[in-house]
Amino acid sequence: MSTTFFTKLQERIPNEVMTNLIDGVLRVEAELGRQVKSEVGLVQNVGEHTLAAGGKRLRPALALLSAYATGRSFSPERVARLGACLEMIHMATLVHDDVLDRSDTRRGHPTAHSVFGDTASILSGDVLLAKSMRILALDGDLRIIRMVSDAVVEMAEGEVLELEIRGNFDLSMDEYLRVLRMKTAAFVECCCRIGAIAAEADRETEDTLGAFGHHLGMAFQMVDDVLDYVGETEKTGKPIATDFREGQMTLPLFYLREALPIGDANELRKVFGNGVTDVQLDKFAGWMDEYGAVAQARARAKEHEDEAARLLNSLPDTPERELLACITEFVTGRES
Ligand code: IPE
Ligand code: IPE
Ligand code: MG
Ligand code: MG
Repeated sequence: MSTTFFTKLQERIPNEVMTNLIDGVLRVEAELGRQVKSEVGLVQNVGEHTLAAGGKRLRPALALLSAYATGRSFSPERVARLGACLEMIHMATLVHDDVLDRSDTRRGHPTAHSVFGDTASILSGDVLLAKSMRILALDGDLRIIRMVSDAVVEMAEGEVLELEIRGNFDLSMDEYLRVLRMKTAAFVECCCRIGAIAAEADRETEDTLGAFGHHLGMAFQMVDDVLDYVGETEKTGKPIATDFREGQMTLPLFYLREALPIGDANELRKVFGNGVTDVQLDKFAGWMDEYGAVAQARARAKEHEDEAARLLNSLPDTPERELLACITEFVTGRES
């Protein structure tokens, strides 16, 4: 996670709790370093390249904080191992996603696909996935194995569904929300549930943390979709307007599509996923602002943020719950 985020947190969260989180994230980092090692040089190169580029490590942090937020005791070493497994699944999906989206930059660095090519990226992503499954098998908890497998299926199918609807300018809001649930929210929900299960929380607490993760995931992807249009590459570390170039209908574009006069909407339709120029993209970004499409999309994300925050209130009052609330605020307000 970014340093500025941690600095902000340090003002609100007791030192001891921050130390627990930092220790946990460091354990995750060490496990990731061990896991990307391989006797096959190319596999190790892709893994190390992806790892070295950084990232927020949001998913292991959520698993860890969810475990603490149950108020119960648990093994931080075990949750760190499971957290590494979750991050490796995330890494694999990003490596694959950048092939699908033909993205050349991620986390401010060249993507694996731009350095090693599509084939090496796809295969090495598969190795990461296989290794994450091995961590689960060694851990041996059947509920966790089932939950993570279900979430990975959901996420992979979500990516394929997104591919299937690519280029459809008339996509319905329901279909868009379905993609979000599948490709992002299901996995974030899973990360929170894993923390709860590792702490042997009761079912109600697990469901609350799961629902929290779902809403956080929805808000997170909506903001990601906004940043695709209005983010600055230096901050997001990703190229701008990939979604429009690739013909992916997302939330800000929905609102713009509804608000534009028919002539302008047709101009969008014509170049959607179909050779749009930088000058046109500049103009569309201006429209996004002018018609309030970005503000509407952010407001929609905020609804999920508020629901996530509301769910936290039914958990025991712990500093880790406060930390989850901070993460929630950070997600919708973020610029990267
Ligand atoms: C990117 O996730 C993929 C989405 C679900 C939008 P993150 O924004 O958590 O990526 P990193 O790990 O911090 O790079
Ligand atoms: C990320 O989707 C991949 C998954 C959530 C599985 P996106 O394509 O929207 O994410 P970025 O913008 O490349 O990070
Ligand atoms: Mg994608
Ligand atoms: Mg992408």
